[in-house]
Amino acid sequence: MSQNLDASGAGSGTPNLDFDGTTPYEDYVQADVLTHLQHLRSDDPGEMVFLVTTQVMELWFTVIVHEWETAAKALREDRVQVAMDALKRSLRELEALNASWRPLAQLTPGQFNQYRAALGEGSGFQSAMYRRMEFLLGEKSASMLVPHRGAPRVHAELEKAIQEPSLYDEVLRLLARRGHDVPAEVLDRDLSQRYEPSPRVEAAWTALYAEPEAELDLHRLGEVLTDVAELVWRWRNDHLVATRRAMGAKTGTGGSAGVTWLEKRAQKNVFPELWTARSYV
Ligand code: HEM
Repeated sequence: MSQNLDASGAGSGTPNLDFDGTTPYEDYVQADVLTHLQHLRSDDPGEMVFLVTTQVMELWFTVIVHEWETAAKALREDRVQVAMDALKRSLRELEALNASWRPLAQLTPGQFNQYRAALGEGSGFQSAMYRRMEFLLGEKSASMLVPHRGAPRVHAELEKAIQEPSLYDEVLRLLARRGHDVPAEVLDRDLSQRYEPSPRVEAAWTALYAEPEAELDLHRLGEVLTDVAELVWRWRNDHLVATRRAMGAKTGTGGSAGVTWLEKRAQKNVFPELWTARSYV
């Protein structure tokens, strides 16, 4: 981004310090906007890292949604390699997302209590971008749109997302186009509903895993999706453990039973047949 670099990238002089308006860096990154979005609600010095970690995770959710939407579109067009590239990028991003738990992982109840009341009813449960991630994974739920009724843009995005095929729907459609036995009730399912596992889809993955060389690209796709599923599961578990440390069995700010509710969510398998098929290979 520096102005005084020659074509080789080596510096030819001093950096340019003279701009008419805002810096080109600012025009692109909007760092001024980004670093002034931290409106703290308490005097506790520990609240800053809680808020910024949450904002950082929202940004990673946004990037990951972008990658999975790219992958879904590419699969629809039979461009498996383009989808693989996007999914592989998302793996590194999921790792970075999960690493962002570190600053909050050892929060004590006393520390969390310093600003917990200031959050009011605010809860990650109301994160629209997390919901879009879940929708792309096939975990659709119309009731999850309800909290967003008052925010037209967010609500419209979620409404669109719930009607669209998930990443996994696109994978199964691709499998069907390649001659695998994906049942019609899966291919023609109501896309706004949660994906339910199918024994015939499990059998299709079993066959693909039994003979990886036969359709190597689909086998590799299965493995990258398994990596995605594992990293999502790890995020949910890290969240669960951090929550258990920070608030024990208390009710969540969003009104759920807290840890017990999160435990149920963490038990769900992403891309279920990719896990169950392994028993039969
Ligand atoms: C250690 C601090 C945290 C605690 C104690 C905590 C606690 C909770 C609890 C109890 C819930 C269940 C819903 C409720 O009743 O509120 C929840 C949901 C959720 N939280 Fe957190 N949370 C923490 C940090 C975060 C962070 C940093 C994020 C990042 C965005 C986040 C994102 C979410 C999401 C997306 C849900 C909904 C999960 C789902 O629908 O399955 N949480 N959290």
